Amino acid sequence: MNTTERIDHARAALLTRYEALENKNDIVKAPELKELFGLIPTLQPDERASFGQAVNQLTQEFKDKAAGEKIVAEELPAIDVTAPFDVNSKSPVLLPSENGTVHPLMREIEIISDIFNRMGFVTEESREIDDQYHMFETLNFPKGHPARDDYDTFMTVETDKDGESLIAPAHTSTMQNRVLKKYIANLERDEPIAAIVPDRVFRNEDLDARHEHTFYQVEGVYVAKGVTVGMLIATLQKFLEEYYGKSLEVRVNPFYFPFTEPSFEFALSCPFCEAGCAVCSGSRWIELLGCGMIHPNVLRSANIDPNVYTGFAFGCGIDRLVMMKAGIEDVRHFESGKLDFLRQF
Ligand code: DAH
Repeated sequence: MNTTERIDHARAALLTRYEALENKNDIVKAPELKELFGLIPTLQPDERASFGQAVNQLTQEFKDKAAGEKIVAEELPAIDVTAPFDVNSKSPVLLPSENGTVHPLMREIEIISDIFNRMGFVTEESREIDDQYHMFETLNFPKGHPARDDYDTFMTVETDKDGESLIAPAHTSTMQNRVLKKYIANLERDEPIAAIVPDRVFRNEDLDARHEHTFYQVEGVYVAKGVTVGMLIATLQKFLEEYYGKSLEVRVNPFYFPFTEPSFEFALSCPFCEAGCAVCSGSRWIELLGCGMIHPNVLRSANIDPNVYTGFAFGCGIDRLVMMKAGIEDVRHFESGKLDFLRQF
């Protein structure tokens, strides 16, 4: 046999052996290959190099064949990446969850929602793009109203049917009109309209430890016959006591919002100290939210008669609430995507 014939002969024998092998990778240990390798040193120098190459090629040929089998075998069981458990295991096992957790703000929003739901408020969602009608008009900011500028609103180049720029909502109050209209039938049944809207808002802010361009607010709306400021204060105080798990003093100062009359700024006694600390900047009070009695024009814009019904509304920054609860010193951590921050929750 010449060297080419030897290689062909060995290939045929190896193929038969290969078919019979359970572990295809064992083919590299086949005696046929060993024999070929053993031949190399016995050959004349001029034959040695080309024969050696041919034996190596043959070995590689079978290695590739075995590797190919492996890939095909591994590709066979399809994995459903949307399944909550490992569909390839014999009995369903929950997939490990240590690679991700609920974001701290989402977790707190559920807690906040739950407290209000237990007080009879339904939860509604806001949106990430809205129009100026809901951002301003329905909230008693007519065109040219100076308070429109206070909101540092992001606006799009694209315009709506009235030729006005669309906006990224700068507060959750954009949902007041929709909520009032959606639940107006409650009033006819002598039931209150009671809703909260916890969602994301956007402002063109100068960023620092207390200001972020993207943050969360929870809006509250309550309308019925004979609603009073006392009911507003009691509701907020109860909510905050539930949220912080202790009784707190509240302070209510007059303020101005176009959509409430009277309007208030609501502060609570610092839950962390008795005599002043870094969180409350030594003042013992923390300004938390804006609130007030819903302005008659806001009720009218939802076809509710302000002579029959009154209501209160409030808007509270969720990031601030959570920062105080968990002792977080910089609001920018929330949107930073920093794993060492997120893993603490
Ligand atoms: N929308 C106000 C803001 O973002 C907060 C607010 C104040 C909401 C008073 C209300 C309210 O519903 O009654 O500054």
